[in-house]
Amino acid sequence: MTDQNLIYTGKAKDLYRTDQPGILKMVYKNQATAGNGAKKEEIPGKGVLNQAINQLIFTYLAEAGIPTHLVEVLNAREELVKEAQMFPLEVVFRNYAAGSFVKRLGVEKGTPIEDGVLEFFYKADALNDPFINDDDIRFLQVATEAELQEIKALTRRINTLLVDLFKQAGLILVDFKLEFGRTAAGEIVLADEFSPDNARLWDVETKASFDKDIFRNDEGDIIPFYEAVLSRLEALTQA
Ligand SMILES: Nc1ncnc2c1ncn2[C@@H]1O[C@H](COP(=O)(O)OP(=O)(O)O)[C@@H](O)[C@H]1O
Ligand SMILES: [Mg+2]
Repeated sequence: MTDQNLIYTGKAKDLYRTDQPGILKMVYKNQATAGNGAKKEEIPGKGVLNQAINQLIFTYLAEAGIPTHLVEVLNAREELVKEAQMFPLEVVFRNYAAGSFVKRLGVEKGTPIEDGVLEFFYKADALNDPFINDDDIRFLQVATEAELQEIKALTRRINTLLVDLFKQAGLILVDFKLEFGRTAAGEIVLADEFSPDNARLWDVETKASFDKDIFRNDEGDIIPFYEAVLSRLEALTQA
């Protein structure tokens, strides 16, 4: 595959065109960023771990009836996905207060959020991915009312499924970010990735972070923690 097939190079992944129409190749990079790219570092081993975790999660969700973009894993760093027209939205779901939620609302980190909170951020680097509401989304024509409702319903179903999965792995799913897109066939699918890069996972006993907060807060090497997330999930699926 030559570089002329590269269609997008992102902060954590690269996207390539393939010979098959409607199918893209996604390559997981070792780069880690925080603060919209303000902090950036190469972390050997991260790409392979994220892809393995993502594959496990997307497969579990697909088996539960969630439509996803994942078609086939090619190797430890590369997978084929359905090309989607992405909604420029970061869909965040929170079960416990952390991160920007704590700063914005002045609540204590770790406060449980009954029934959860779903938030939208407008994926626009130049604007620093601002928080937006349903009316902003309609005004920007980023999604129709029906699409918005479908995205919200899918996100809540995904949350229920993943809270349960991580609980069995001894981890609390504190919050996470998803991205959705529409395929050529017209289906809204879960796209992008699910990994400890865009979720907060706390050990159920110690409440220690097993996610990118370790990198954000300069608390050491993330790799052993990402490895632990993968091995705990693998232990479940092999059980
Ligand atoms: N199935 C898909 N079809 C088209 N684009 C996708 C698909 N899944 C994810 N993407 C996009 O590919 C990019 C993935 O690379 P990433 O490194 O996460 O980028 P970013 O720096 O924009 O977050 C994202 O912009 C994401 O919206
Ligand atoms: Mg991204």
